[in-house]
Amino acid sequence: MNTYRWAILGCGSIANEFAQAMNRMGVQIFGVANRTYQNAAAFAEKYGINRVYQSPRELLEDENIDIVYIATPHNKHIPYLREALQHGKHVLCEKSVTLNSSELAQAKQLAEEHHVVLAEAMTIYHMPLYKKLHAITAEGKLGALKMVQMNFGSYKKYDMANRFFNPDLAGGALLDIGVYALSFIRWFLSEAPDQITSQVKLAPSGVDEQASILLMNPAGEMASALLSLHAKQPKRGTVVFEKGYVEIYDYPRAECAVITYTADGTKETISCGSTAEALCYEIRDMEQAVSGGENEMHLDYTSDVMRIMTELRNSWGIKYPEEI
Ligand SMILES: NC(=O)c1ccc[n+]([C@@H]2O[C@H](COP(=O)([O-])OP(=O)(O)OC[C@H]3O[C@@H](n4cnc5c(N)ncnc54)[C@H](OP(=O)(O)O)[C@@H]3O)[C@@H](O)[C@H]2O)c1
Repeated sequence: MNTYRWAILGCGSIANEFAQAMNRMGVQIFGVANRTYQNAAAFAEKYGINRVYQSPRELLEDENIDIVYIATPHNKHIPYLREALQHGKHVLCEKSVTLNSSELAQAKQLAEEHHVVLAEAMTIYHMPLYKKLHAITAEGKLGALKMVQMNFGSYKKYDMANRFFNPDLAGGALLDIGVYALSFIRWFLSEAPDQITSQVKLAPSGVDEQASILLMNPAGEMASALLSLHAKQPKRGTVVFEKGYVEIYDYPRAECAVITYTADGTKETISCGSTAEALCYEIRDMEQAVSGGENEMHLDYTSDVMRIMTELRNSWGIKYPEEI
């Protein structure tokens, strides 16, 4: 049985995955809207959705909707976030939740004023594996955290008009894939980094194509991230503690990690959750958070990551048209 009335805004690739997850969970999607109406109508047909709104605004004004899932390009998050939150809707918004910290601060303020949940759809925060690794590291048998190493490389067609490279669609490696690397790092660090250094290589369109990022927090925990939008790399994270290290592959939706205890080289494999169910965990956590349950959507981590990304782009001199 459905607890909440969910509506989907945007009908692209991730919205399709999301709707498939909802179908698998037996959640009836209440309504859908999209920039191009015909695509929303086709989406509704595909997923058995009864209401297709004429426009995103019509959806956002519908008092019958409890939770809106926003799946439009990065620079089209804040206008929809503002409207949804002002209309008292809970919002699960795709990554990167906004372009910068100032937009996120506006959204957070609106969510507080209207007593609704605002969350970023960051799979890492909802995968059971990460929750389990938090519990294991909190037990202390690995000792203190020292370093986190991250990679994310994606080979995107070198087309400066697509959303990955186009500044008019807030392209660039940082907002598209760096947000995963930084969210992973933030998940393990005991506090947010206060020292940030980096190098960047720009694409012909002027957005960040490749970056190397170094971070350190007041506790002396360090992290590095290597990003590329035009070279594949293993999506590998290594979390290094005094007495051992944890390796995680395919980390955005990871279901398995290997811990190596350095004293004797013993390895322990931790399997928890399922990659295929990644969006289902996110949906369940959101419903629990909306119901006032214990569940944490980690908007604090989202804010820390957004601050780092804002500082990085400022230091690189990359501004999107909305920011000029
Ligand atoms: N969590 C994840 O695993 C994951 C994976 C991929 C992407 N994402 C995030 O999800 C978002 C969408 O990515 P995607 O890959 O699904 O994109 P996509 O396939 O290109 O779909 C984009 C959607 O946004 C709409 N749209 C495009 N430009 C718009 C505009 N100017 N104003 C309003 N709507 C617009 C499109 O509508 P039309 O039908 O009119 O073109 C389409 O419905 C991004 O923020 C991305 O970072 C998350």
